[in-house]
Amino acid sequence: MGQLDGRRIVLGITGGIAAYKAIEVCRRLTDAGAHVAPVMTKGALRFVGKSTFDALGSEKTQISLWDENHSIPHTRLGQGADLIVVCPATARLISDYRNGRSGDLLTATLLATRSKVMVCPAMHTEMWEQASVAENISVLRERGVEIVGPVEGKLAGGDNGFGRLAEPDDIVDSIFKLLGKDSGHQTGDLAGLTVLVTAGGTREPIGPVRFIGNRSSGKQGHALASEAVSRGAKVICITTEAESAPDILGVELIETETAQEMHDAVMENASRADWVFMAAAVADFRPKKIASQKIKKEEGLTEITLEPTLDILQAISKKRKDSQLIIGFAAETNDLLQNAARKLESKNLDFIIANDVSEPDVGFGYDTNSVSVIDRNGLCSEISLCDKREVARNIIDIVSESWSEQGTHPKIQ
Ligand code: CTP
Repeated sequence: MGQLDGRRIVLGITGGIAAYKAIEVCRRLTDAGAHVAPVMTKGALRFVGKSTFDALGSEKTQISLWDENHSIPHTRLGQGADLIVVCPATARLISDYRNGRSGDLLTATLLATRSKVMVCPAMHTEMWEQASVAENISVLRERGVEIVGPVEGKLAGGDNGFGRLAEPDDIVDSIFKLLGKDSGHQTGDLAGLTVLVTAGGTREPIGPVRFIGNRSSGKQGHALASEAVSRGAKVICITTEAESAPDILGVELIETETAQEMHDAVMENASRADWVFMAAAVADFRPKKIASQKIKKEEGLTEITLEPTLDILQAISKKRKDSQLIIGFAAETNDLLQNAARKLESKNLDFIIANDVSEPDVGFGYDTNSVSVIDRNGLCSEISLCDKREVARNIIDIVSESWSEQGTHPKIQ
């Protein structure tokens, strides 16, 4: 059974370069069993072909109010939909929708519906930050429209910044959550579980300008959060990289910067979690004194005295509630398995996920990873080099198998 069996989705595509990503969204939705009716604006046709959506959607792509056999296509589409997703949504579409203007089939369909609506904006940073666009978005949000993204990253013309369309995976995950919730229950094999994930590298301030940090990007932790939520879990994601964190329904984001802030956030929330994934790279030491003003080079070489931070994993495993699974991470450059096994034991963990960050394409900053998953009995499973989301899928499979095997603990469906 597909996650979206029997669901009817209108997929609106407007004119932006990110329109090509809607192709993947369309394919994933039909793969999941949804009936997808693509509706393109004239602008969208400048970026992608109608025949692509004809082939991947569940019915012929509609463009105009006047070219369908049905005399009132917008009401047929709008009234029959469980969800209308606009992906990507331009500033024009957002403004028209907010103001109730129906200049084309897509905006007419948005007005002729009582279904849920999801808008996935994509535009240049300057446009996204315009007061008018920001106001339109906040009005739509207040009206109950789901806004997914945008995120930070590469934009058209080689620019970098905020305004990039959310990743197709995250958009599809949000759709799964929305329609799952609609039917009164969360779907997926982790439904009913709460998963806490930490992600990113902490930053320890030296003063108002400089900090001591590390190379962690938060990608593996975020991939775990996305995977868990797409499988029905409720996720608490405590991250130092909130801008690139999954902005999807079911994920409660908590932004932190320092080891102390992350410690406090984890301690406050860990008791709610069935599983804790401590994927963040937490500083072991921090400057003892934080300069109140920028340290000037004329002052000469300044000695920075460090003091230890608290070990978050040690702290939560001491307060572990019954049945809770605690999973640590170990990024190493040598003696991988020995170092990881030592940490598993000294921090009293259920699993440790070890990776050798000196290997090419592994760990910090990359989209790929290769890890060893070691359990309490020393059993080791290797996950060879693949996309971090795929790594997350495999890690969660291993953890959920062990969770289900624990006779004393509630089984997940
Ligand atoms: N960790 C933590 N709190 C800290 C430091 C680390 O919770 N202050 C967690 C990390 O999130 C990770 C695990 O402990 O899940 C191992 O972190 P790592 O930095 O590899 O190990 P350390 O114990 O700090 O040992 P070392 O840096 O010497 O390798």
